[in-house]
Amino acid sequence: AYTAKIGPSILSSDLSQLGRECERMMECGADYLHLDVMDGHFVPNITFGHPMVECLRKAVGPNPFFDMHMMVSRPEQWVRPMAAAGANQYTFHLEATTNPGSLIKEIRESGMKVGLAIKPGTTVEELAQWAGQIDMALVMTVEPGFGGQKFMEDMMPKVSWLRSQFPSLDIEVDGGVGPDTIHRCAEAGANMIVSGSAVLGSADPRTVIALLKDVVLE
Ligand code: DX5
Ligand code: ZN
Repeated sequence: AYTAKIGPSILSSDLSQLGRECERMMECGADYLHLDVMDGHFVPNITFGHPMVECLRKAVGPNPFFDMHMMVSRPEQWVRPMAAAGANQYTFHLEATTNPGSLIKEIRESGMKVGLAIKPGTTVEELAQWAGQIDMALVMTVEPGFGGQKFMEDMMPKVSWLRSQFPSLDIEVDGGVGPDTIHRCAEAGANMIVSGSAVLGSADPRTVIALLKDVVLE
């Protein structure tokens, strides 16, 4: 059996009830929470920023792990505010910065873990040169910006290649992942699974989370 950590993307939840939705996901077996920050510039959508994260942290207490998916044009700008707000991991996009090395250093100095994300059009080789310095690689399986899109299976070779090169690296997939597509991700070697609409759109999120965790590889 294959086990991965499941991080619901609360973008697909009732945003007027965000604190309660986060608690509900943790009660349903989520291992961590994936929080999608969008600035309307890096992606054509807007969500929330560090003031919301600060409120959420107060609402849910110290335990849930916040993986911040920073879909923003100036990731350097929000490192300190996010750390102060209670974020645990800062996952920025390689496409959004000219100096990944100094950003990685800043994130570490602020006490957060480091995630590095690539959009579907970015090669995994571009990410690989930083892989030794990060905690997690995020291979996007949709164009970032919206929940509920179709899983891009042709991203799986990126995951398999990363897994073969970096056996102990955390590898996250994000976009269109649910019970129908989890096998592909598991086979390729992803061990952190983001799922938005499949989990939050379900009447029974607990069962969906359990299904995602318990994939049997052939
Ligand atoms: C897309 C976001 C994803 C999204 C996932 O830009 O990064 O986290 O919310 O939602 P689903 O699982 O519905 O594709
Ligand atoms: Zn995301």
